This record gives sequence, structure tokens and C-alpha cells, in this order.
Amino acid sequence: MIRYYENIEISDRNSFHVRQVAKRLVEFDHAEELPELFAKYGSEEWYVLSGGNNILFTKDIEALLITPCDKSIVVTAENDKVVRAKVGAGVEWDDLVAWSVERGLWGIENLSLIPGKAGAAPVQNIGAYGVEAKDAIRSVEMYFVEGNNFVTLAAEHCGFGYRESVFKHTLKGRVVITAIEIELSKEPNPRLGYGDVVREVEARGGATLANIRDAICSIRRSKLPDTAVLGNAGSFFKNPIVEREVAERLLAEFPEMPHYPAAEEGKVKLAAGWLIDKAGMKGYKEGNVGVHERQALVLVNLGGATGGEVIAFAEKVVEKVHERFGIEISPEVNVM
Ligand code: EPU
Repeated sequence: MIRYYENIEISDRNSFHVRQVAKRLVEFDHAEELPELFAKYGSEEWYVLSGGNNILFTKDIEALLITPCDKSIVVTAENDKVVRAKVGAGVEWDDLVAWSVERGLWGIENLSLIPGKAGAAPVQNIGAYGVEAKDAIRSVEMYFVEGNNFVTLAAEHCGFGYRESVFKHTLKGRVVITAIEIELSKEPNPRLGYGDVVREVEARGGATLANIRDAICSIRRSKLPDTAVLGNAGSFFKNPIVEREVAERLLAEFPEMPHYPAAEEGKVKLAAGWLIDKAGMKGYKEGNVGVHERQALVLVNLGGATGGEVIAFAEKVVEKVHERFGIEISPEVNVM
């Protein structure tokens, strides 16, 4: 079914809870409805509004907003080692994690409690605690608007990288993702190497799927604000990837600085949260916007903030980090 709305206030459709009006918004339940939807409502400017967890609206929206609502999870293949499932773009990511953990399937348990929908997961290549969506995604199904046809793109053609994919570049504004296909393993494969994960899992009695999910949920709840209480979009900034020499220069001054090897040769990933924290901005507030008190990578709407206020505040954070460390951090969140 297709549902069409006009002049709809969208503060409950974006996790930052900024109050903006969308001139036109359509929800659809099934991929097959997209040709009809575009024929009827399509316009030159359109944008997929999924869960609204990674977007900051800074003005009212003239573009047509399109929201996928397919919540189906269907097993497409299975053998004694793995299960493949086709997941509708409208499935809550965490419902998918719960589904896999209940069935004893390994692969995405570390991605527990990441807010957002399955259809948005490949765009950002969401990641946490040493795992990324790309580790489980085998293909992405989409409607290609120019061609008015459906395309399935194998994962190796999705250009996945750290918070990166073709959907943010060459395919941006050209496709509507309708489903993903994931592969999960029946064989245990605990990945506990990140931060406090191993300790929290041991405290719960060892590396079962349920314990890992519970540990990750508890770590996230302790650091990340609940969007129902404090509007936010998770990490506002990406962790910067810098040349090795830059990291070495900083490490000489700050030996305790967290740093990780980046996928690219000769580069190092730094922790933007640490940089913001050390620049003295953790918990800093101005007007209706603040840096979260327990995780400096997250900006929060303290109540009634506009998108413009959030952006102006974010620019100050970027400036402070630049002043202190000479490093340019950039938003992970889409600004619209
Ligand atoms: N740190 C501080 N102060 C802070 C925040 C972090 O010193 O205020 C330090 C931590 O002590 C740690 C390091 O910075 O040594 C990294 O912090 P953390 O483990 O919390 O992870 P992160 O790099 O800040 C990334 C993801 C998160 C994900 C976590 C866990 C990005 C942009 N963010 O954060 O993803 O949950 O790792 O894997 O890559 C998201 O994308 O919305 C998100 C929450």
C-alpha cells in the first residue's frame, strides 16, 4: 500500500526531533509499488527518509520524502553452516538482530541496538564493536529510478568502507533501497576484541549470543543517549582517518590517544570522541544544543533546537578540535 501525506510535521520522524515540515511524504509497503509511486508522485527532487536516525533537517523540506515500510524477514537459503535472509528495508535494525539471536544465528549481534532501519544499514555501512554491516550483507536490492527497473547489487560492488558505500556517492539520489540480503552463521563466532566487550560478556557467564547482545546493549545504554529522551543522531562525526605521520606527531604529545589501523595502507583512524573530549567540549552546552556528557561524539537536542542551531554548534566543535589538534573532523550525519 502507498500512503501519501502533505504538509506533515516530521519531528517524530527524525531522531534529532527537529521540528520541520515536509511538503510531501509517501510511505510504501512493497518494492513493486515504486514504479507506480514515482509515476504518480515523483518529482525531480526526492529523498529517502528511512528511520531518520542519521539525518539533520535544517529547513522545511520541498523534496518528496519516500519512506520504505516493508518489515518482512524471509529465509532465502539455508545449509548446515549458514542461513541467508532477505530483509525488507523497513525492518528495524535491532529487530533483525533480535531475530538472528533468537534463532542462534551469528554475525550481527555486535550491532545490537543501533538505531535505524535495515534499508539504511548499507548506506552508512553501520558499524560498532569491531563489526560492520558489510560483514553480513551479501547483496542489496533497489529500485533504479532513472531506468524504472529493479537492480540487485552484490556486496562486492557496493563500495563498502568505513561508514561508506556507493549509496553515498555514485548511486546517491538515484536508487531506493528496498531490501538487503544477509548471511548469518550457525557456528559460533564471537568477536569480543573491542573495548569493554570481553569483560561485560565474561561478567554475564561467557560468549553466548544472548550474553553478547545483552552486554552490547548495556554498554550502549550506558554511553549513548536515548533518542526518546534526548534527540540525537548517534555519532555526529566520523572518526577521522589521518596519515601515519600526523598520528605519530600527536602521539608524541598525547601518548594515551586512542588510535586504530585504518583499512587504507599508511593511515590511522583516530577517535573523534576523544579529540572532542580532550578539546574540553564534552558536556559543553549552548542554548538548546550540547555535546553529550558520556560520549563526546554525540550532539544532543536539549529541547526545541532547530537544525540550524545544531549545525552552528557542530561548527564550533569542529573549530575547537582543529585549534587544539590541527585535525578536521567531519559530520557522519547527513545534513539536509
Ligand atoms: N572517548 C573519549 N571520550 C569520549 C568518547 C570517546 O575519550 O567522550 C575515547 C574512548 O575512551 C575510546 C575511544 O575514544 O578510547 C573510542 O570511543 P568509543 O569506543 O566509545 O567509540 P567511538 O569511536 O567514539 C564508534 C562508532 C560508534 C560505535 C562505537 C563502538 C563512529 C563514528 N562511531 O564510536 O557508532 O557505537 O565506535 O564501536 O565510528 C554511530 O555511528 O552512531 C555510533 C554510535
